[in-house]
Formats: sequence, C-alpha cells, structure tokens
Amino acid sequence: MALTDFPKVSLGVFPTPIQRLDNISRELAANIYVKRDDLTGIGLGGNKVRKLEYLLADAKAQDAQIVFTTGGAQSNHAMLTAACALKMGMTPILILKKRGVTALKGNQLLERLMGVDVRFMDTDDYADIYAEMDRVGTAIGKPYYKIPCGGSNALGSLGYVDCAREIAEQGIHFDHIICAEGSGGTMAGLALGAKLFLPGTKVHGMMVDTDPFDQITPALMRQAASLLGINIEISPADYSLRNMCGPGYAIPSPDGNAAISLSAGKEGIFLDPVYTGKAFAGLIALAREGAFSPNENVLFLHSGGAGGLFAVDMQA
Ligand SMILES: Cc1ncc(COP(=O)(O)O)c(C=O)c1O
Repeated sequence: MALTDFPKVSLGVFPTPIQRLDNISRELAANIYVKRDDLTGIGLGGNKVRKLEYLLADAKAQDAQIVFTTGGAQSNHAMLTAACALKMGMTPILILKKRGVTALKGNQLLERLMGVDVRFMDTDDYADIYAEMDRVGTAIGKPYYKIPCGGSNALGSLGYVDCAREIAEQGIHFDHIICAEGSGGTMAGLALGAKLFLPGTKVHGMMVDTDPFDQITPALMRQAASLLGINIEISPADYSLRNMCGPGYAIPSPDGNAAISLSAGKEGIFLDPVYTGKAFAGLIALAREGAFSPNENVLFLHSGGAGGLFAVDMQA
C-alpha cells in the first residue's frame, strides 16, 4: 500500500519547522539546520508522535480500548504513547523496565500528571514484558493493542518515511541528516524515506544504545519497504552509523553534555542527555572531522526528549 494510503490519526502539528542554526553554523564552519520534531505539538513534543499517528490508527482500526507499551523508566516513547492514547479516548497502561530513574521526576512526573497506570517489571528481557501485557490485557477482558518498545516496528517507522517526504516538500536540499538511534525506527524510516524522496541525502544514525543497529537498521528498512509494497535493495551505503553511546544508555556523556550546552547557549534550543545531546555531539564530531564541505547543508533532527533533561543527573 502507498504511504499516503496508510491510515493515520492526526495527533501532532505538522510540518515541523526547519530552522538554520546561524551561531552554531559559524562556530562549526558548516551549514547546520534543525528539524524541530521537538515541537510536534503534544506532550513535550518529540519523534514518537509521528510513529504513533500510524500505530494508534491501527489500534483504533482494531477497536482497542487499552494500549500497552514499554521502555525504560524514563521512556519518552511511553510518556508520549500515554498522552496520545488518552487524547484518542483509549486507556494507556505502561509496563516499564525497572531501569533508570523511577522517582517522580521527568517523564514519571508527566505520567502521574496524566493519571496513567504505570507498572514496573524488574527484568532485562522485553519478552517478559510483552507476556505480562497479554496477561494483564486478558485479565481486564477488553480489546488491547501492544506497541513495542520505542514504537519501532515497520508500521511505526512509516512516521519517519513520511518525515523524509515532508523534508523534501520543505524545499531545502540537505546533503546530510543526523538523528539519534535508540530503538531504530526513526533512523530506519528516515534512511528509507531518503532513498525514496531525498536523492543525494546521506542519513547518519547516532547510536545511543548498544544494540546491533547494523542489523536492526536494514532489517527495519526492509520491513517498512515491504509494508509499502516497494521492492528495493537496502545496502550499507544507504545509511551510516556512529557509536555515540559513551558510558552507556541513558548515562550522560561529557561530549553529549557539551553539545547540550552549545545548543542551549548559542541557539536557545534544549537537547536532552539520553538521545539528542549525544546525537548532536556526533554532528559536532563529524563537522570537526571535516565530513561536511562548506557548500553542503546539514539537518539535525531534534527528536525531543525534554523529559529526560529533568530526570537524569547530568553530572553523573
Ligand atoms: C527524544 C528521543 N530521540 C530519539 C529517540 C530514538 O528514536 P528511535 O527509538 O526511533 O531510534 C528516542 C526514543 O528512543 C527519543 O525518545
């Protein structure tokens, strides 16, 4: 089915703006722009809204009354899923890994303000959590819909295929797009979308976790292409990956923190310590390595994550 034929619910405000970062461009001697997906218009904004427009349309088509999802204790995805499900009149239940900051800060606080049913499971294996969703859903006895961690399945990834289409329509040619890669859907969607709508654009995924993204990225790209009924070859030349995880997932890194300060101090744009700060540090590293020539345009996807800024101890 063609991208435009996929059912989608309207949850956010699109297109998000593209802005030139004049001060940072001067500092890095490159043409740096930002795609403001931190301004997607629900919750505190963020990349998950684009995925949820497809995923929750599917949930609605299945008459789901309950929406489950998962992630770490401070998952931006879980918080946004709850906000979007509530807006659609569905009941979110978050079954989160008991990992990270479980105190009433950041996204935990926002979930409390929304009155969301949040449960923790002391496990490292998402299979345990998906099984628990089935147990809880069956016990409640209402139709339920399970959204995987990060909303990163083929359907969710369509949100970022569509974002690439949106960028193409916004009229500036970008030679490079840089994004954070945490569960893979954003990067896979953008890389597939670039192949379809943005000829000559290279997409760089800045890995902020230690999962095998060299396998996850092309696999999700192929699955999303197959959903769209497109038969294309995906090769390593279609995406570029860089490890920006630093000391570990959700543990702030010194270069990530420096990137957060640069963006805040020069542009009044706040990044977060778990995803966008580390991804922007990757952009800075590429600029300093001479990866961008003076006539090239570089687009940074600001994928949100503000909740993390108020939960994670940046000195850690
Ligand atoms: C703020 C933010 N940026 C980037 C990402 C990474 O996106 P993805 O999970 O699609 O790789 C996430 C979620 O994991 C996020 O919450």
